[in-house]
Amino acid sequence: MKTIVITGASRGIGREVCIKFAEQGHKVLAISRNTEPLIKLQTTSYYNLVPIELDISNLPQNWIHKITEHAPKIDFLLNNAAVLINKPFVETTLQDWKHIFQVNLFSVVQLIQGLLPYFSKPTHIVNISSMGGFQGSAKFKGLSAYSASKAAIANLTECLAEEFKYDRIYCNALALGAVQTEMLQEAFPDYTAPVNPVTMADFIVNFIQHGFEVMNGKIIPVSISTP
Ligand SMILES: NC(=O)c1ccc[n+]([C@@H]2O[C@H](COP(=O)([O-])OP(=O)(O)OC[C@H]3O[C@@H](n4cnc5c(N)ncnc54)[C@H](OP(=O)(O)O)[C@@H]3O)[C@@H](O)[C@H]2O)c1
Repeated sequence: MKTIVITGASRGIGREVCIKFAEQGHKVLAISRNTEPLIKLQTTSYYNLVPIELDISNLPQNWIHKITEHAPKIDFLLNNAAVLINKPFVETTLQDWKHIFQVNLFSVVQLIQGLLPYFSKPTHIVNISSMGGFQGSAKFKGLSAYSASKAAIANLTECLAEEFKYDRIYCNALALGAVQTEMLQEAFPDYTAPVNPVTMADFIVNFIQHGFEVMNGKIIPVSISTP
């Protein structure tokens, strides 16, 4: 049995990843602000799924304890939580940019630094990026802050692989294409994605468990559509 920490667990892709790991019998430490859907999952189906209520953009002083009290060692960390603002660049405020980067990048830095002493070796950190943050990909109006934050997390992934290369801590990023979730609806209200969260979760779950055996510091585009 492995232990995985997943952020952004209450809905969308993160929720499906939680369910798949829990079905496999692993311990799932599932983080989001809204824990109601996770408590329902725990009480009805998966005793091994532990809902943890945390706002990763404003972590309380005891946040490390709130996670590690449930498991002494962490095998996998999936940095999946993110926010998106769909607004033309000229209308974005500095506050918008700070908020997006707080959730999509700075919280990831905090989580990795804080949980470092609890990582088992090997550990696989998987950061969820986006095709919007992938160099040379098609770009879309209104998503500059979001896409820039996703480019930043991709670059951080490469840097961390270098920093941890002798520590058996592996770090890769998945640059996802469109997946039919509430976030996608906010970005592209009239668009239907060809991939659903269950299918994407299948890929992610397998990647977390095995990707580090063959790659480190890589940014993998996972997309069959534009966007
Ligand atoms: N869907 C797509 O087409 C697509 C494409 C490319 C990349 N991605 C990436 O895939 C990941 C998952 O996206 P999704 O579509 O599943 O998004 P989603 O449905 O909007 O889910 C986002 C999750 O993040 C959590 N979250 C947001 N802010 C948080 C905070 N401050 N603290 C803790 N949790 C927070 C939300 O939970 P609470 O609100 O309960 O806190 C929610 O569970 C994201 O990194 C996204 O950028 C998605």
